Amino acid sequence: MSFLAASRPEASAAEWWRQAVVYQIYPRSFADSNGDGLGDLPGILSRADYLAGLGIDAVWLSPFYPSALADGGYDVADYRDVDPRLGTLEDFDALTAALHERGIKMIVDIVPNHTSDLHPWFREALEAGRGSAARERYLFRDGTGPDGSVPPTDWMSTFGGPAWEQVADGQWYFHHFAREQPDLNWDNPEVHDDFVRTLRFWSDRGVDGFRIDVAHMLTKDLTEPLPSREQLGAIPIDGNHPLFDRDDVHEVYAEWRAVFNQYDPPRMAVAEAWVAPSRVPMYARPESLGQSFNFDLLLADFDAAMFKQVVDDNLALAARSGSSTTWVLSNHDVVRHATRYGLPPIGVLASASERTTGEPVERAGASWLLSGGTAPALDREGGVRRARAASLFLLGLPGSAYLYQGEELGLHEVAGIAPERRQDPTFFRTEGAEIGRDGCRVPLPWTTEGAALGFGTAAPHLPQPAWFADSAVSVEDAEPASTLRLYRRALAARRALQSGEALGWVVTDRDDVLHFTRPNGWQVVTNFGTEPYPLPDGEVILASLEFDGTELPGQATAWIAPA
Ligand code: GLC
Repeated sequence: MSFLAASRPEASAAEWWRQAVVYQIYPRSFADSNGDGLGDLPGILSRADYLAGLGIDAVWLSPFYPSALADGGYDVADYRDVDPRLGTLEDFDALTAALHERGIKMIVDIVPNHTSDLHPWFREALEAGRGSAARERYLFRDGTGPDGSVPPTDWMSTFGGPAWEQVADGQWYFHHFAREQPDLNWDNPEVHDDFVRTLRFWSDRGVDGFRIDVAHMLTKDLTEPLPSREQLGAIPIDGNHPLFDRDDVHEVYAEWRAVFNQYDPPRMAVAEAWVAPSRVPMYARPESLGQSFNFDLLLADFDAAMFKQVVDDNLALAARSGSSTTWVLSNHDVVRHATRYGLPPIGVLASASERTTGEPVERAGASWLLSGGTAPALDREGGVRRARAASLFLLGLPGSAYLYQGEELGLHEVAGIAPERRQDPTFFRTEGAEIGRDGCRVPLPWTTEGAALGFGTAAPHLPQPAWFADSAVSVEDAEPASTLRLYRRALAARRALQSGEALGWVVTDRDDVLHFTRPNGWQVVTNFGTEPYPLPDGEVILASLEFDGTELPGQATAWIAPA
């Protein structure tokens, strides 16, 4: 047995996040308190006891700021307010207080790469015209061709379609994402100052940390002549690429780190950075954001060799930065893992270069659904069984675990949303070629009845399929073997068992079984295969399915107590 990563002393209160379980809430789809079909902050507050009962350490709220919802709230019109449809700043304070009373931290989402086109700065930029200081907050350029009617480059947006949009006076602005999301100019000190103000605003309100949206995209080098799309694709992403993962983005985070450290305890941050593995530690360094998402499990099949490689690689990366790693199986951008594991495996781990732009996850998820559909290729029961095994594997690992609302119910992706009900800009910008991310954002089922299965009293903003009722919280609450009860037991046991941040692999005679131990002797065994696996001696304290405690069935995980 070899131990990876040095054992650390217990994390101090300031480092609460190192092995935390963080639960992501997509506010518009969690609970609707006022019957308008849209989830809201008082709705989340009404479920505070549910969150406490789950046993999580922190909540991460996806954007709840004023927004036209061109990209589900990631198009922010005011960074220091609450969307009136979701509540008020007082509601935010009440929610934070309720979570804090229950020992749960609050993490909010910061979207610094782009604003909404309804943000006052962008409205001002449109009015003030070319050459104005207001336009300097964004990335405006003149077009090419004799009358400037050709965009500055042929670059594509991440959501499909062109990355430049023309405004009335003929100039063009750059947008990595939807046209309603103009990119900010991070060479402009005013942009820096405004985000520092935003970070202080929420920190002063008692927020414990921040999730930084597309943290690797903020800074750009748009010095002319600009490369063509083809030329751009050939430029190595090594710190000097015009658009992605530039070294100078860490100057921004050094500034932010100074702000975070002025608070007690220091505010934490986690980077959503789709970068090559070798560059992840730059974001996770204590001088930078301090932690970075590791999305590798989103890109892996339910496969022992892939899981082992992902664990080894990411513990090594965490050791390099001094941070802890982060495990993610589902979030609001990808096909839910119960469904991924119910569809045919991909067969390869995504390569480092594919990981850089953030595209492959959406693409992979979408194409699985498009090619697999939900029936008959989707193995619903098998998907949930494997998802439960993978979740218990993940929750046994050192580092922090980021869970996505609904995974604790074993929810499947909703594939069959009618085109006219879809919301994700990827669906529209690719003319339906990419199905988009609405299927993992459907409002949660709390009960089995009513217009919205307990989500609220009105029809929800995305339609819930009838089968959602089978996974309602009320149903799973009453069912001892449910996924919800499994998550509750797992989170409680994890809290009791948690020890240093090391992991030791135990060699097995099966290449489809992974077995590891933690420094206190807690053991985790996952059988990725189909043949039962005889467990080592010890008390099985938790398993992803019921069995006799001696032979672990296929596609299952067991936790064994420290001796
Ligand atoms: C991030 C978010 C995603 C959003 C995009 C643009 O990847 O997770 O939901 O669409 O950034 O803000």
